Amino acid sequence: MSKKYYYITTPLYYVNDKPHIGHAYTTIAADILARHKKAKDVEIFFQTGTDEHGSNIEKIAREKNAQPKKWADLISEEFKRMWKRLNINYDNFIRTTDKEHERKVQEIFENMIKNGDIYLGTYEGLYCLPCENFFDESELSDGNCPIHGKKVEKVSEESYFFKLSKYEDKLLQHYKNNPDFLSPSYRALEIINFAKSGLRDISVSRTKVSWGIPLLSNPKHTVYVWFDALLNYITGAGYGNRTPGKTDFNEIWPADVHFVGKEIYRFHAVIWPAMLMSLGLPLPKKVFAHGWWTFNGERMSKTRGNVINPEDIAKEYGADALRYFIFREVPFGQDGDFSSKSLQRRYNSDLANDLGNLFSRVLNMVNKYLEYEFPAKPENAAIFEKFTAMTPELDSKIENMQFSEALDKIWQAISILNKEIDFKKPWEMAKKNPEQLKPFLFDLIWCLRLIADWIYPFMPDTSTKMQIQLGIGKTDAPGIEIQKSLQLFPRKL
Ligand code: ME8
Ligand code: MG
Repeated sequence: MSKKYYYITTPLYYVNDKPHIGHAYTTIAADILARHKKAKDVEIFFQTGTDEHGSNIEKIAREKNAQPKKWADLISEEFKRMWKRLNINYDNFIRTTDKEHERKVQEIFENMIKNGDIYLGTYEGLYCLPCENFFDESELSDGNCPIHGKKVEKVSEESYFFKLSKYEDKLLQHYKNNPDFLSPSYRALEIINFAKSGLRDISVSRTKVSWGIPLLSNPKHTVYVWFDALLNYITGAGYGNRTPGKTDFNEIWPADVHFVGKEIYRFHAVIWPAMLMSLGLPLPKKVFAHGWWTFNGERMSKTRGNVINPEDIAKEYGADALRYFIFREVPFGQDGDFSSKSLQRRYNSDLANDLGNLFSRVLNMVNKYLEYEFPAKPENAAIFEKFTAMTPELDSKIENMQFSEALDKIWQAISILNKEIDFKKPWEMAKKNPEQLKPFLFDLIWCLRLIADWIYPFMPDTSTKMQIQLGIGKTDAPGIEIQKSLQLFPRKL
């Protein structure tokens, strides 16, 4: 069997705490791409999940007076609940504590000892617990972890190492031959320079961490949490299955896109492909690293108490408005600052005003001047023809993860329609030249139908509501009743 699915992944999120807006961001991005492709009849395999092992989770569970597994059960449920709330249509939710995953990681580890890419040595270094990562002295900022700004620990222990150094040239060659692999392109240089600076073998087991997957051949070691977690991308796709199941690895792998945040780009663009090379597997087609959300200019953190809960926003504005806002406000890839003011502004102006008013305006005119019926496409639907010609450009924007640009284009179209109505004044047409009114309204209705299609990956609920009100059924047959308009986005004061 050969590859059949378009495979999209998110990182596996740590179960240290409930999901926040940052996790939602990556997962919604994956969902947008998945929905876009699915609407084009591409078969999708979309995987997300939770990263549950390691000393940090162990420590947090202890603080909560819970067994690590019980804690992980609780938080991973929170993630699933959040994804449901935000309309995320994933195909597989993997947990690194799944027995199948654990077994496969153990087998892979032993195979890499056998092929010589993993060997036993001693590790001495500086470790940041929340990162679950070692740092060089030179990477620290004021002696602290460059990401969390927290103290790093001196660690010295017997450890297994993965021969990352062996893959330096092969990786550089791969980056060169596959310019789409490192995305967006402005992030490629950081990775290339890192690889060129000389890759060192990395520690991939711990003796002091009990909350992890024990090695089959030396159970006092547990697998390093990153080595364990990265493998999810293949274990969840059916790698190492003993009995043929519903997931056939060859139909899914290689991944088409791994979506990650920029802070974990090196793990995905350097270590992960080297692990795959060691296993003799093809590499993912693309690793896309997006930027970070801050809140009012500050890093979101629990201690600062400024963590945004996507559920609160969904409750107030709806999941679609949240999905819209975070992908319209900031070009995907770059950093962005979240502020409730700009969310409210965009909600009122872009959603309530531009789209919402357009929709109710047109439906009210249909109600007033026409029978409630979805019309056949008119002969000279000038605007509709023009808009239809935009679809390929919109498709390619989404496929290149230029989500904000796609939304910009859609809103340009919405604004064209609003201006056309203001300019042509259908209410005067009704009196002065009624023969022009019908084709004009038909044109508008067909444009709204197209807009409903365009926004579907971003705002699936709104798209569906529009289609229902327009009377568009699965059959696409004209002659279905158009309903009286509801407000899509009631204004928020
Ligand atoms: O790193 N802005 O998990 P994690 C944008 N378990 N995106 C953000 C964000 C923010 N402020 N905060 C989090 C881990 N994210 C590992 C991954 S993968 C094999 C293992 C998103 O819970 C973004 O995608 O710290 C980031 O990379 C991810 O959540 C980190 O989640
Ligand atoms: Mg993190």
